[in-house]
Amino acid sequence: MKIKVAPSILSANFATMGESIKKLDLCGADLIHCDVMDGTFVEPITFGGQMVKNIRPLTKLPLDVHLMIEHPKTQIKFFAEAGADIITVHFQACNKISPTYLRETLELIKSYGVKCGAVVNPDIDVENIFPVYDLLDMVLIMSVFPGYGGQKFIPSVLDKIKKAREYAIKVGKPELDIEVDGGVTADNAQIIKDAGANVLVAGSAVFKAEDMAKAIKDIRG
Ligand code: DX5
Ligand code: ZN
Repeated sequence: MKIKVAPSILSANFATMGESIKKLDLCGADLIHCDVMDGTFVEPITFGGQMVKNIRPLTKLPLDVHLMIEHPKTQIKFFAEAGADIITVHFQACNKISPTYLRETLELIKSYGVKCGAVVNPDIDVENIFPVYDLLDMVLIMSVFPGYGGQKFIPSVLDKIKKAREYAIKVGKPELDIEVDGGVTADNAQIIKDAGANVLVAGSAVFKAEDMAKAIKDIRG
């Protein structure tokens, strides 16, 4: 499977975001990972649909919008119309509303012609999202607790990545994108890929690197 690197703009300087987007494009990024935080599902607040709308004309790369927000259904319209290519929502945020809310949210995302994904935190079993595998374009396995960049990769999620890939194969979707987010570096990228992930998010490892193109290339391997 093709390995894709998705730099997270959470680690960029928001005052010069346009420059960062153009640079990521030139440095060989495969997707641009946009971390949306609402101050409730996670402590910090980052940005909303307006940011996605403003960066959309600056790159042809797919915009991978990771919604770390409560009540994600209420925001899908804004991100879809802003130009998101994929929108991922957290199992936990959905399940606390109702058992059908995750499926409804994924269907809503798809109704805009946007790809959809479901996210599980490090302490959430991936089996929770197996019932919606039929709808998914992506599974996002968090390898840190969401909220902050620059945290350390939690190795116990490797087993979950394996289970996510095995189940994808079992249900006839062997090429399903399995994305891993949090603490990814060039040093641990190989074990993450070996476990079955093919999309690697990297914030600090890309933005703190002196040579961003090399950092992306080293993670891709
Ligand atoms: C964490 C975010 C991640 C984060 C990754 O809440 O979802 O996308 O930016 O940053 P690093 O790669 O620094 O862990
Ligand atoms: Zn993220």
